[in-house]
Amino acid sequence: MSAFQTFRFRLNGGDAEVTVPPTMSLQRVLRDVLGLTGTKDGCREGECGACTVLLDRAPVDSCIVPICQVDGREVMTIEAFSGRESDSHPLVSAFVSHGAVQCGFCTPGMIMSAAGLLIDNPDPSPSEIEAGLAGNLCRCTGYEKIVSAVKSAADSLGNRGSRSDRAILPAMHPRRYTGQTSEFEGIRVIRPESIPDIDALVADPATLRFLAGGTDLMVQKTNRKPCGDLWVDLSALKDLRGIDRVNGSLRIGPLETYHAIATHPLVKQYARALSEAAAMIGSDHIMRRATIGGNLGNAAACADGYPPLTALHAQVRTRLKGTTRVRPVESIPVANGRSSLEPGELITDIVIPAGDTTRSVFHKSMPRHAQCIAKVSLAISMSLIDGKIVNPGFALGAVGPTVIRVPDAESLMAGRRPEELDRNAIAHAAVLVARPINDFRSDIDYRLRIVELETLRLLQILSD
Ligand SMILES: Cc1cc2nc3c(=O)[nH]c(=O)nc-3n(C[C@H](O)[C@H](O)[C@H](O)COP(=O)(O)OP(=O)(O)OC[C@H]3O[C@@H](n4cnc5c(N)ncnc54)[C@H](O)[C@@H]3O)c2cc1C
Ligand code: FES
Ligand code: FES
Repeated sequence: MSAFQTFRFRLNGGDAEVTVPPTMSLQRVLRDVLGLTGTKDGCREGECGACTVLLDRAPVDSCIVPICQVDGREVMTIEAFSGRESDSHPLVSAFVSHGAVQCGFCTPGMIMSAAGLLIDNPDPSPSEIEAGLAGNLCRCTGYEKIVSAVKSAADSLGNRGSRSDRAILPAMHPRRYTGQTSEFEGIRVIRPESIPDIDALVADPATLRFLAGGTDLMVQKTNRKPCGDLWVDLSALKDLRGIDRVNGSLRIGPLETYHAIATHPLVKQYARALSEAAAMIGSDHIMRRATIGGNLGNAAACADGYPPLTALHAQVRTRLKGTTRVRPVESIPVANGRSSLEPGELITDIVIPAGDTTRSVFHKSMPRHAQCIAKVSLAISMSLIDGKIVNPGFALGAVGPTVIRVPDAESLMAGRRPEELDRNAIAHAAVLVARPINDFRSDIDYRLRIVELETLRLLQILSD
């Protein structure tokens, strides 16, 4: 297979064709291959939002989108919004008139994120605008003026009766874009059409990685960390998608994004802790790409999927060379960033018991509302029979190399009524097993205190 491939996609209303390494980021293709330098180059790891573009009309950080996943899709960049002053787009005019631009470095990303937000929600409140722009950093203007600019653009688009995404997007001046590069990245990508196709591939799986949303893999590639030399792009595998409740269990496909999980009514109803955790992953841009399977496969100590899934007694079904295996979710991570999955072993289903009386809650301690890894996270679940707790679950995250289940806390809950729990004893059991580290973000004592206080608070919520 060639180290270069040709990809075709729609770009700013025109057609684009590029011949490049399949793992090259969309950001580098736009800037370095096609010369569209309005998309800025900041952190290259999904943190700053300067590279935001619309992919199928949703905002994404183009620095962590591999070009192989853009094939056949629609991309829109800030260049589509550039026009003469007299006919500038309401978003562009509002940024200028509200003084929302100083050095201007963040502005293209801000405008693209705002356009994506307004397509989804044409009349956002200031707090919804803040949430929509949480993945975009500005070092000089300050966010107040940016939020007012977006609000004013939304009002002006509304006043013009322009509440369809076609009206929110600028008028297009289509042209043809072509380009190629001889720059070598050394990673091949294949895109199987069915899960059994993967069985044949894993003859030499040592350097194989599954590519789901790429939010971990692309950052590892940029930072020159080991990330394999054959990526199996899962995006065509429909069987890896879906959120359904069957026979009292919730089944979530590993390719579901945290955005889909956070907003899905079945997850809200039967696995509330997971829905709450999903809503705190990165920023809106990250949530739209980050999958639950990738989160489990990457197995970071701070991965937010593990505590709620562990507390909810989730099982993970995997497949390796045609053989299926089922195991508790907490048996997958074995160290920070290392999993018990064998090379080539694919997560195919995440199954959560979802009884009608199950309640669950999640907490994540972090210094801002978005783009932060947890200092401490915890999740508690319980079901009730005749008012008494059955099958309780208690799990801690980010306070050890892997998720920590707390069986002593679960024993203290089982068989009791929620309002009769000895909350201090349960909090003490959690503190005893937590193994946090000192680092620049927080020290051990602080993290242990958070474990204690948040346990008390979450138990109060569950008993109300
Ligand atoms: C800016 C930023 C902020 C972030 N914030 C958070 C956060 O707040 N909380 C958090 O938990 N994470 C966070 N992350 C990490 C990341 O977004 C998540 O871990 C995400 O869920 C990974 O999913 P993905 O689809 O992008 O995985 P990918 O990068 O595609 O894959 C990650 C790993 O999982 C493996 N994998 C993927 N799918 C499968 C499968 N079906 N079976 C077996 N293995 C598989 C891959 O081989 C790879 O090793 C953040 C990342 C960035 C860049
Ligand atoms: S360059 Fe910072 S998010 Fe892409
Ligand atoms: S205007 Fe300078 S970074 Fe935002």
